[in-house]
Amino acid sequence: MRLSYKLRKVFTGDAIASARHHVKQWLIGRAPLRFDVARITQTIDREKFQEIYDRYGMANPGDEWPKYLEIEPWMEINLKRVRDLGLDLGGKKRVLDIGCGTGYFLYICQYLGHDVLGLDLDEEPGFAEMVDLLGVKRKIWRIETFAPLPDLGPKFDVIAAHMICFNGHKSDKLWQIPEWEFFLDDLARHLEPRGQICLELNREYDGSLYTEELKEYFEARGAEIHTQRVLFNPLRPAPAAVAPVAR
Ligand SMILES: C[S@@+](CC[C@H](N)C(=O)[O-])C[C@H]1O[C@@H](n2cnc3c(N)ncnc32)[C@H](O)[C@@H]1O
Repeated sequence: MRLSYKLRKVFTGDAIASARHHVKQWLIGRAPLRFDVARITQTIDREKFQEIYDRYGMANPGDEWPKYLEIEPWMEINLKRVRDLGLDLGGKKRVLDIGCGTGYFLYICQYLGHDVLGLDLDEEPGFAEMVDLLGVKRKIWRIETFAPLPDLGPKFDVIAAHMICFNGHKSDKLWQIPEWEFFLDDLARHLEPRGQICLELNREYDGSLYTEELKEYFEARGAEIHTQRVLFNPLRPAPAAVAPVAR
């Protein structure tokens, strides 16, 4: 580790968080001691992955889905998501990933012994092939405004949605507080009482992630917000002051 990074860690308080995580890992670790992207990706059938890569890979994918075929950086991102949610620690959990894409996040969760389910559209054959290759369970479902989720079986300990597009992202129908309220209340029906919800928002055309009003609403429901990441641990009921009837 470089000295400048070490010093920055000390000053930002990251060192304390990281030390705490190490102690927890030692005491209640779920992940094997040597748990890194190289080891996880080694467990994926390289030949079958190469076939998918040969079918869909492109030199400059930009925002197109084949960008996810650069497996190592995306595994790093997803490993960080897993660690940030404490899924490398403690007991077996049930994890739902809404808009699961290739399924990398769930693959790591499954590698750690968690029980996982993805929800996604059936629009990108490449996502279907990746999810198949990774052996991740996926239900085809379109999230729609003011429409509840289907029966998803037992409740979840963690519900995640990363780089969200189902909220009218980059359209004139971008979700406001009432749409989010319906969605969060519906998620609560699928969540264990001490469960957590992690939403990772995408930037809109103007570079924004949420309005100040929406940010305050999320916070009023217990969210800890770090830029695009909105973590409810736990989710609080909708506050009367901002409930739809009062607005
Ligand atoms: C930007 S990708 C993110 C993929 C993955 N969560 C990740 O972070 O790597 C958005 C995902 O949301 C899915 N999606 C978009 N609109 C959706 C909707 N209305 N209902 C369910 N999934 C949706 C897409 O198919 C895609 O898998």
